[in-house]
Amino acid sequence: MSIDSTEHAGAAAPARTQAPAEVNALVRMTGSGDPERYVVPDEGARPTARKGTVVVEVEAAGVSYAEVQMLQHLHPFPPKFPFVPGYDLVGTIVEVGPGVTAWKSGDRIAAMPRQGAWQRYVELPAKTLAAAPADLDAALAVSLVTNGVTAYQMLHRLTRLEPGRTVLVHGASGGVGALLAQLAVHHGLRVIGTASPAKHDTVREFGAEPLDYRTPDLGAAVRELAPQGVDAVFDHIGGSGLDVAWKMLAEGGTLVSFDSSVAGYRPGQWFRPHVPALRRTVARWFTRHLGLTGGRRMSMYYVKPGKAFNTDYAELCRLTAEGVLRPQIAGRHPLGGAAAAVRALLDGTTVGKHVLIP
Ligand SMILES: NC(=O)c1ccc[n+]([C@@H]2O[C@H](COP(=O)([O-])OP(=O)(O)OC[C@H]3O[C@@H](n4cnc5c(N)ncnc54)[C@H](OP(=O)(O)O)[C@@H]3O)[C@@H](O)[C@H]2O)c1
Repeated sequence: MSIDSTEHAGAAAPARTQAPAEVNALVRMTGSGDPERYVVPDEGARPTARKGTVVVEVEAAGVSYAEVQMLQHLHPFPPKFPFVPGYDLVGTIVEVGPGVTAWKSGDRIAAMPRQGAWQRYVELPAKTLAAAPADLDAALAVSLVTNGVTAYQMLHRLTRLEPGRTVLVHGASGGVGALLAQLAVHHGLRVIGTASPAKHDTVREFGAEPLDYRTPDLGAAVRELAPQGVDAVFDHIGGSGLDVAWKMLAEGGTLVSFDSSVAGYRPGQWFRPHVPALRRTVARWFTRHLGLTGGRRMSMYYVKPGKAFNTDYAELCRLTAEGVLRPQIAGRHPLGGAAAAVRALLDGTTVGKHVLIP
């Protein structure tokens, strides 16, 4: 397995190899199992722009936990094999279809098609695009698309806490959690961030207080740091972890469930892990309205493209350009290195975002 070493802003991208213009270099996921076997570089026809679409030359595509879930047949909305994966991308429009007036060739854009980003040329509906700043490094820019907007919206649109409050961020060493921890600290919140012990120094660098998510009584450990409880918990664990998280909340606090990845996905049972989260969200909505939760509430979050997405993405790019936010890039890989990138995410051996440079 060859993985680029951990790097930060500004490191050089691998050199592009030129393919004939009509050929599209891409990666397919062909089945479920080891990435070395089922994540394979391939070629296809270069797409052309149709009514309402544009063709984008991809500069950088993100490698996400979603692809790990798809490979394990554990994704809530699993595509049929074979398919071209790739949740998000940044690139330049090279062709504009009939009826598209908002964009022109040469515009730099970001998009979250949820699949299809791992190719050199991709056709995208024009109405799903967000503007990307011309001068931001492509790997940094793509790390802000799904992970960044998720972190930003959970913090600023969902919980909307005043500075001075305390939050618990699960997976503060991960793609979403690292950005969320930095954004929360920048907003003036006290942040407790869970991570594996090897990554606690990274969590400290964000200005957060690290805690091992494997601590036997995590609730008690959090209460030791925050005796009144915390004002928000951001949870991707799910299942009974949601009950642990609920008990960490101070009066008026919010539990945000943004996945159930740790608790309970099983192959072929993609919806089942969401049932505990849905059941608890509905039950707590009722008990809250009966005045039985001390003002505590629970919400589920799922990132969606749209106007708010575009506004929040622009703000994340601004914060990054100003050096407030420091997205970490774990590795930049050519398309042929996609399996190694997925492997790194699967094994949890690196910190930060793995990015494909087609
Ligand atoms: N709802 C949405 O719209 C949305 C959007 C984006 C992502 N997500 C979901 O958010 C989750 C995180 O995504 P990501 O891209 O940040 O993934 P990632 O980069 O792989 O990070 C995963 C994080 O989880 C931590 N972790 C591993 N096992 C854990 C456990 N038992 N308890 C608590 N934390 C644990 C890891 O810590 P160590 O590495 O230190 O072990 C790491 O910090 C995924 O489930 C993804 O599907 C949801």
